[in-house]
Amino acid sequence: MNTITIAQASAATQWQSLVTDFGSPLMVIDCAKVLQQYQQLCEALPGVQHYFAIKALPHLSVLKTLAQAGAGFDLASSGEIDLLRQMAVSPRHTIYTHPIKRDIDIRSALRFGCTTFVVDSPQEMEKFLPYRQRVALLLRLSFPNPSSPINLSRKFGCSPEQVPLLLKLSQRMGMTVKGLSFHAGSQCPNPDNHVRAILTCAGLINDSLQYLNGRGLGVLNIGGGFPVPYIDEVPSIHTFCSKIRTALTALPAHVQVISEPGRYIAAPAATSVSSIMGIAHRQGRCWYYLDDGLYGSFSGQLYDYRRYPLTVFSDQHEREHAVLSGPTCDSIDVIAEDIRLPRLSMGDLVIGHQMGAYTIASATDFNLFPRARDVVINPPDETGMNLSL
Ligand SMILES: Cc1ncc(COP(=O)(O)O)c(C=O)c1O
Repeated sequence: MNTITIAQASAATQWQSLVTDFGSPLMVIDCAKVLQQYQQLCEALPGVQHYFAIKALPHLSVLKTLAQAGAGFDLASSGEIDLLRQMAVSPRHTIYTHPIKRDIDIRSALRFGCTTFVVDSPQEMEKFLPYRQRVALLLRLSFPNPSSPINLSRKFGCSPEQVPLLLKLSQRMGMTVKGLSFHAGSQCPNPDNHVRAILTCAGLINDSLQYLNGRGLGVLNIGGGFPVPYIDEVPSIHTFCSKIRTALTALPAHVQVISEPGRYIAAPAATSVSSIMGIAHRQGRCWYYLDDGLYGSFSGQLYDYRRYPLTVFSDQHEREHAVLSGPTCDSIDVIAEDIRLPRLSMGDLVIGHQMGAYTIASATDFNLFPRARDVVINPPDETGMNLSL
């Protein structure tokens, strides 16, 4: 269930003026928040180099903010490479982490200058034979996480037991494997799966010396999974990472630790603004039809299993049964049901919080309703608005 806050009508003014200037629906992206989230993660995991998972929020202003702050980038498609090409990013600060790639994607990444790739099977390793002099590989392991709402170890990753075989195969192929990689699941409620995965990887890294002619593995990619508060409270990032920091001490001192955060950096940095474009009374409830919905910015309710905290504005005290619906003709396109709201009017605003990750990234323009227009505040360069919302 989405949580709904009823704020005083006067609090709508700042959002209303954005709608007056830019129309509705909007996705307001705050680059100062992007920077703050990145810096907090750096403080929570000292010594770890972070590669932002572009898929969470593929927006140039976000990428520029992070590049200026020293972040690297996690690439998963040729399209993401094309986005990075629009700004000055050293390819040395990129890793290509999609375990399944087409040759055309490998070539596009190599042309860009990215040379670190993730693989998780012999078939995928073989794809690098023609490029073996130019690339270094990370092996992705699977660590299923039943407590995470988003399991990223179902589709990808080899088992820890397969690692020796893959390392021996890499030796036979003349390929460089430089480290291990995992994703503990997204929006993890606790760090236990990260800890288990790190300790298993520490053992595998120690054992790797025997398969790699004494060279051993030198990189561990601990993935993403750092949680943000949507409906439920989550531990602060410092608390969440404290067990991870301890687990990392089990790694040999030479191992470079990297991560690929998406949600933690992107989710709190964007706020959706939509407007009521229709009202009907049906089945004893008041239906409010918004100009954004599940096919648009709220797509994360389907694909990412999220529910977002919402705010509406009213000074009335009475509440009635209501439904917040998206604009399309599809009846699946309902954002929130079984809720109680004050009586709202045509043109009133609904604000969605924590909506930066896996939202506009997976939005469509089904029915040809336009996607939310992005409005960037506190951008990394001088263009744009400096606002505090
Ligand atoms: C390979 C990979 N890395 C990083 C991420 C980002 O994870 P999160 O948003 O949990 O930080 C994902 C999410 O899908 C992913 O698939």
